[in-house]
Amino acid sequence: MNEAAWNEVKAEMANVKTIKEMFAEDPQRAERFTLEAAGWTLDYSKNRITPALMKKLYKLAEASNLREEIEKMFTGAKINETEGRAVLHTALRNCDPDAKVLVDGRDVMPDVRAVLAKMGDFSDSVRKGAWRGFTGKRIKNVVNIGIGGSDLGPVMANIALTPYSKRNMKFFFVSNVDSTHLAETLRSVKAAETLFIIASKTFTTQETMSNAEAAREWLVKELGDKSAVAKHFVAVSTAAKEVAEFGIDTANMFGFWDWVGGRYSLPSAIGLSLMIAIGRSNYAKLLKGYWKMDKHFRTAKFERNIPVNLALLGILYANGYGAETYCCLPYDQYLSRFPAYLQQMDMESNGKGVTKDGKPVTYSTGPIEWGEPGTNGQHSFYQLIHQGTHLIPCDFIGCCRTHNPIGDLHDKLMANLFAQTEALAFGKTAEQCRAEGVPEKLVPFKTFEGNRPTNTLLCDQLTPETLGALVAMYEHKVFVQGVIWNVFSFDQWGVQLGKVLAKGVLKDLVAAKPELKHDSSTNQLILRYRKAVGR
Ligand code: F6P
Repeated sequence: MNEAAWNEVKAEMANVKTIKEMFAEDPQRAERFTLEAAGWTLDYSKNRITPALMKKLYKLAEASNLREEIEKMFTGAKINETEGRAVLHTALRNCDPDAKVLVDGRDVMPDVRAVLAKMGDFSDSVRKGAWRGFTGKRIKNVVNIGIGGSDLGPVMANIALTPYSKRNMKFFFVSNVDSTHLAETLRSVKAAETLFIIASKTFTTQETMSNAEAAREWLVKELGDKSAVAKHFVAVSTAAKEVAEFGIDTANMFGFWDWVGGRYSLPSAIGLSLMIAIGRSNYAKLLKGYWKMDKHFRTAKFERNIPVNLALLGILYANGYGAETYCCLPYDQYLSRFPAYLQQMDMESNGKGVTKDGKPVTYSTGPIEWGEPGTNGQHSFYQLIHQGTHLIPCDFIGCCRTHNPIGDLHDKLMANLFAQTEALAFGKTAEQCRAEGVPEKLVPFKTFEGNRPTNTLLCDQLTPETLGALVAMYEHKVFVQGVIWNVFSFDQWGVQLGKVLAKGVLKDLVAAKPELKHDSSTNQLILRYRKAVGR
């Protein structure tokens, strides 16, 4: 992180008053700190900021060469240096028919458009019933088998876009190598009516391949013929050889490329299950929403740029105010898996401890992201956010119009959202408590100090377009933070060690005579397990 620019930010923090005081002093505050883009409004006025502090934060972004780094990403430079790859998820949703994006001198856009068209034709034929199963039956169930980026995006978006989904089909997502996940799914479907999408960038991930093999075995047994696999299994992957080895015809493979990171892959062929659910024209609207936010991020001045401002506020809290986490609170049941989706996007990207030149960082990087939909969270963990000892900046996300109007439920939902941000910012003083007749001995418990920061993100309605824009908004926020923290946001080496060790442990769990060479705790756990399962 640029030390000189950061020191200026820190010095300016001394001039920040409480949120309550700053609102009282500036009648224009809400207007001053509100931004609009791609169908979303961001009100970031309830933060511990002043215009002067924001200026210092923009200066930090400039000093981190953010403008140049954004251009590098959009134009296919190999910014994922430890893997030698470009980072071009933005090309996947580039809706400009004349766009050219070069990687190693080759325009990737014709391939992007060809895969999209192939996905569109396939999803049309499944939805219309033209694609039939081995016994001639219509496909009624789609089971996506994948994990991490090959699961969380499709799961989140399938739930989010339920109002647009084909209601006479069912969609399942199997990710965990816990056999319960697959077993419970298979109990709910009939083989003759089920399509399996094996979604894996590498087609080597242990969990996905184990579940895919088990699903294939089940299907062959149920339908009594090996050749049934061709009508019930398709693949989404970058690895044609591995797909063919698994026994899926590569004609039924939907490709993507090494320049699409797993956690950024929802708008690639990884979104196939979603496209079948919502149809190709709604999927096109999702991409359009992403694209609108991409254009905003690439062109808007930092002062007016939603992802840049979200990122800078996050840095202010993580590095300036010592916040270790931030909370994502969607007041929309359709966004129930959005916090989990953000977890991978943010924590796998910026959970890094060394700078781009391989030196240990001397400041906090990616924060812990967590959250639940409102109002449910209000009745579980909000207590800690209001009165606990941790500072937890929160993003409240709301949609003005519901897809499911029932009485005044939506008004109540939104009233809670707005009231929470008000309570967190302004709190309640001891004097207010006393004026309400609170007995003196209860005053300390009923006092809220306030000054707890929140962002509010509002859209008109949750649609494919606004969902695409929301995802892109957070992707770019995470990108900006990685640039300022000077870490590589697009690799994930930290995930590898556990994967490698699991292979060795597995051998020891199943071997006739294991030679246990682990630490005493791991050895003991392995022996206990072996005894319990009779080995
Ligand atoms: O385990 C982490 C990870 O490498 C993620 O980055 C990725 O999204 C996930 O595994 C799944 O990988 P794949 O799509 O290759 O199966």
